[in-house]
This record gives sequence, structure tokens and C-alpha cells, in this order.
Amino acid sequence: MSATATVLNATPRLGAQLREEGCAYLPAVFEPSVLRALERECDEMAARHYRVENIDRHAVYLSDSTPTRTSHAMMISAGPSPLPTVSLEGLESVRRFLSFHDEVLGQLLGAEVPAWSRSMLNWQTYLSGSKPVTEHFDGEYLDYRKDEDGGFTLHEGLLPRLVLILTLSNENDGETQGTVLRDLRTGRELSPPSRPGDVLVFDNVRMRHSVPTLEKPRRMAGLRSFDFRAVHFARTEASRRPGATYRQMPEGLVSEDVDAVAVHQEFLRERWAGVREAQRAEGALF
Ligand SMILES: [Fe+2]
Repeated sequence: MSATATVLNATPRLGAQLREEGCAYLPAVFEPSVLRALERECDEMAARHYRVENIDRHAVYLSDSTPTRTSHAMMISAGPSPLPTVSLEGLESVRRFLSFHDEVLGQLLGAEVPAWSRSMLNWQTYLSGSKPVTEHFDGEYLDYRKDEDGGFTLHEGLLPRLVLILTLSNENDGETQGTVLRDLRTGRELSPPSRPGDVLVFDNVRMRHSVPTLEKPRRMAGLRSFDFRAVHFARTEASRRPGATYRQMPEGLVSEDVDAVAVHQEFLRERWAGVREAQRAEGALF
């Protein structure tokens, strides 16, 4: 049975798990040969698309690279999108991973994911003693401001509803060493297994995620939709979009009825050049 068919058979159970626990875990969804092909194509994507002009047009995000952790993120879609993406020409494994993600997301949210909607594909390599990833939610940070203590506060953003993570390889004890999730409703912390081929789906509004320092190498690839059912985050009333209904969440307010594509287009038109200018001023050209 294909990975997609396996998961679709399990959808009712996954949906229940997601509602109850904020995440759903699927062991051994992909074969090692599929994982190796996906790894190769991710490397190919970095070689092909990690270029200043793609960062400038906001189809590719700045890579986070330290001696022990390298992370890449790029926007992709199954069909033509009104927003910036990179081409998947000749990258069949990435295409299949995206279509798997879109099927799972569609089933879990009860609607077909449109081909034009973009997802962020990210992949990370952690080496021995990797720099930890501090707790966060994934999203397009539309307005973030520097705090006096050197940190950042997000004032406005678009948050993918769900995040899907696939473990490509893991030399650690896969029982515990991977993504750590914290449920904001209950405070409960979860450390789902992270063995090669395992898939983890989590609610990106309810759960916060982090990755501890890993003793041994691990590679993962993740997808999350930025355009389909993404929620709008406003830290205060001032960043609310007119006409939308918001509910309270720990860091601020979220709305499910804001047009994420329109907000993103406005961001690119009005604010992105300034954000990129600030990146350049800090030496983060590339
Ligand atoms: Fe993340």
C-alpha cells in the first residue's frame, strides 16, 4: 500500500488523536529508498534554488547555518501560485511528499487542498551536539519587533494550521530524540518517537515545538501550508484585520477567517522590501 493510502486508512484515528492530544504520530510511513531519494532532492533544491534573487522575491527563506545544524526553507506548490514559489521540475520525490501532505491535510481539515496553495518545505540536518531549536510556532512573521533584551516579539503573523514532519534519518535513540511538543492547554510535554520514515502531524496553534541538543546526527523534512486554512495572528487589538472574528490564545489573538493570500500579497507589496533591507543591514544577504 502507498504511504498516502496507509495514512488515509488511518485518518479517523489520526483526526481523533489530533483533537485529543494536539498531535498525531504515524510510525514507519515511508520506505528507506523513498527517504534517500527525498534527501537527495532536498540537497538538489538547495543547490538549485538557494540564491539571492529567490530570497529577494521571498520564495526562499534565509538558511540557518551553524557548524552543527543546517536548515533550509522554500515555498512550493503543486500548481501555479499567485505568490512566490520555486520550481519542482524534475523533483518527483518532493512532489510526492507535497501531495502526501496535501492529502493528509485535506482529510484532517475536511476539504480539498487547492493546487495553487503553497506550503513551506523545510529540511534540517542536526549533527552531534547540535544547537537546540528554542520553543516556537511556525509561521510567516509579518511584523516582529526587537525587544530591549535582544529577543523578538511577534506582533502579526500567518500561522499554518498543521505542521507535518518526516524523519529522514536519526542515529539517536529514535524513541525520544526528535521534536518536543508542549500543549498550551494542559502544559503537557510530548516527545513522540522520531525513527526514519515516521510522520508527525501537530496543531501549530495549540502546540509549541522545540528540538533539544542532539547527541548524534538526525535529518528531517517538514511541510506546512501557508495559504490553505492558515490562521491570522495578532498580538494586540491593533493588529487585527477588520471584519474578522478572533479568539484568544496565549500569545495574543487568532482568526480563522482572514484571507491569508491577500494578507501575504499586501505584506510583499508594503512591508517585505523593508524587512529585506533590515536583513541586508545585518549582513544577512544570503
Ligand atoms: Fe518549527
